[in-house]
Amino acid sequence: MTTQKLKDRVAIITGSGGGLGAECARVLAEHGANIVIVDINEQAASSVAAEIEAGGVQALAIRTDVSSEEDVKAMVAQVMARFGRIDVLHNNAAVLDVDQRQRDRDICNLDMDAWDRAIAVNLRGAVLCSKHVIPVMLKQGKGSVIFATSGLGAQGDLSLTGYATSKAALNMLPKLVAAQYGKQGVRGNAVQIGLAPAENAHASMPSELLDILRDNHLTPELGTPRQIADVVAFLASDESSFVTGTTLVADGGFGSHTPSLVAMRAFFEQSGRGGM
Ligand SMILES: NC(=O)c1ccc[n+]([C@@H]2O[C@H](COP(=O)([O-])OP(=O)(O)OC[C@H]3O[C@@H](n4cnc5c(N)ncnc54)[C@H](O)[C@@H]3O)[C@@H](O)[C@H]2O)c1
Repeated sequence: MTTQKLKDRVAIITGSGGGLGAECARVLAEHGANIVIVDINEQAASSVAAEIEAGGVQALAIRTDVSSEEDVKAMVAQVMARFGRIDVLHNNAAVLDVDQRQRDRDICNLDMDAWDRAIAVNLRGAVLCSKHVIPVMLKQGKGSVIFATSGLGAQGDLSLTGYATSKAALNMLPKLVAAQYGKQGVRGNAVQIGLAPAENAHASMPSELLDILRDNHLTPELGTPRQIADVVAFLASDESSFVTGTTLVADGGFGSHTPSLVAMRAFFEQSGRGGM
């Protein structure tokens, strides 16, 4: 992997006041990009920006609610005033706090405010940021737009109905970006993220649940924020210049195997016919 592959580029990362977004900010900064930390949590955004500036690149923290068009417009104007260009937009922000997760349940028990919030932040937010950033990229004749999706947007699960639906819809957006603006140099891709525990989202998960998830990975361990950020850095850079309109799956094989694999592995181990 090359280093400094994003030297002097300007990257906006939404929801980068913490979790995977903050790790993406650190890794893109390591590759030389100047970073715009966009988050609804101003204090968190400022603290990540200060950490990144200490590494020698420029960082700008902007408090933005990505579901508000007014906020997004003002954010893009502020970025242009400071840097005069935007090379990368990573649509990473999602509403995932404990309260939201407890209310965004199965369809029969779904709190419709939680549904509306999931769609507004995760989906509308990504569309709004793309709507206001892509015109800048079109003027430059180049840009990379990335969307953070999830395995929950591809396979059914017991809860998180609004979250899953918003993530499923996000898989369509890279195809639209690629089809609509590809000839003018703008690429669109998504990263379908598996479990890569970050401090906010999974702190409350019992270890038994994490064990079940680990058993279903085809890698020795669950993913890390760094492994996701490396994929984002690839999609942000010219290393992926022939990759557009697609969803790259970074999930340790979680979504790649037969539903019976874990039970079969246990069966073979117990019957002494050799584990795999
Ligand atoms: N962590 C994982 O294992 C995992 C798995 C699959 C997908 N993902 C996806 O990766 C992305 C990051 O996940 P995470 O685990 O780091 O989540 P997180 O909750 O740690 O971070 C989300 C960030 O978004 C910010 N945010 C929330 N609402 C916002 C709004 N309206 N405007 C601007 N910012 C807002 C939050 O303040 C927070 O800093 C999400 O899109 C998530 O769906 C994560």
